[in-house]
Amino acid sequence: MASEAEKEEETVCVTGANGFIGTWLVKTLLDNNYTSINATVFPGSDSSHLFALPGAGDANLRVFEADVLDSGAVSRAVEGCKGVFHVASPCTLEDPVDPEKELILPAVQGTLNVLEAAKRFGVRRVVVTSSISAIVPNPGWKGKVFDETSWTDLEYCKSRKKWYPVSKTLAEKAAWEFAEKHGVDVVAIHPATCLGPLMQPYLNASCAVLQQLLQGSKDTQEYHWLGAVPVKDVAKAQVLLFESPAASGRYLCTNGIYQFGDFAERVSKLFPEFPVHRFVFQSPLRFILWLAIILPHEKNGVTYSIK
Ligand SMILES: NC(=O)c1ccc[n+]([C@@H]2O[C@H](COP(=O)([O-])OP(=O)(O)OC[C@H]3O[C@@H](n4cnc5c(N)ncnc54)[C@H](OP(=O)(O)O)[C@@H]3O)[C@@H](O)[C@H]2O)c1
Repeated sequence: MASEAEKEEETVCVTGANGFIGTWLVKTLLDNNYTSINATVFPGSDSSHLFALPGAGDANLRVFEADVLDSGAVSRAVEGCKGVFHVASPCTLEDPVDPEKELILPAVQGTLNVLEAAKRFGVRRVVVTSSISAIVPNPGWKGKVFDETSWTDLEYCKSRKKWYPVSKTLAEKAAWEFAEKHGVDVVAIHPATCLGPLMQPYLNASCAVLQQLLQGSKDTQEYHWLGAVPVKDVAKAQVLLFESPAASGRYLCTNGIYQFGDFAERVSKLFPEFPVHRFVFQSPLRFILWLAIILPHEKNGVTYSIK
């Protein structure tokens, strides 16, 4: 664990600092007495909400405009840092017109640019924000327990034009390859769908999923969903991974693994005034139970149904 004195002396960099998770991470760092934070934002993006965070000011928070594809700009933000939290990556619900340019390149090359800068300036650890989407979907894992060795099936996603999981998987794989080749200390975190209070002035993709659900969307989220996690906890986990020398490898960050249908049911109970869709058949187990309930059964020559 970093001592309080170390936290005060060390500069850390957060990429994508003005996004949903990035803003919570900056807040968490400030709450934990980090007094020197380099925050990168996409050139031209609004970062004013970061300065509205409790304790934020010009003395402890510096904003660097940096497209992660601009290695020079990334270097300027990472120089002098002991830790880097790489969060910036395109995260959108819309299908991209050009997946390579819009999603894959910024995710993969952006990660490599950050790691290259980390190597050059002797950064102690890089916490890479991967995703549950780098673990699932993978139909080949049916019946097996998902663990650190589980990866999303790229061909399966490409054939279904699910480009976000492709971008996150390729980016994380590139990070591990770079880390191994150049001896950079990388730890990856894999948040499930992050939800929680918005501190940035727009709706990000994961919170838009909740909004759409409340509006009656029937999207089953089958490609992305394994559960949800409070964004606050993700930010705390990112800091913990940076501060814990023993941390290594890939860390799933979720509050449980459960069907989107179960989540929808909970949301509908919490907000009965909204037209939340009921996902009756999403889980095979639920489907079997449903069949057991509504289909007539025959036993000892007597037909009956379970009601
Ligand atoms: N939210 C989730 O449920 C979830 C779950 C697992 C993993 N993640 C990962 O967590 C990270 C943050 O996600 P989020 O939910 O906080 O989404 P977000 O609010 O959209 O944040 C993404 C950030 O990345 C920045 N960015 C995108 N492309 C960039 C580029 N080329 N150069 C510089 N910055 C760029 C965005 O900047 P602008 O918006 O200013 O352009 C934004 O600040 C992403 O890596 C995402 O894959 C999210």
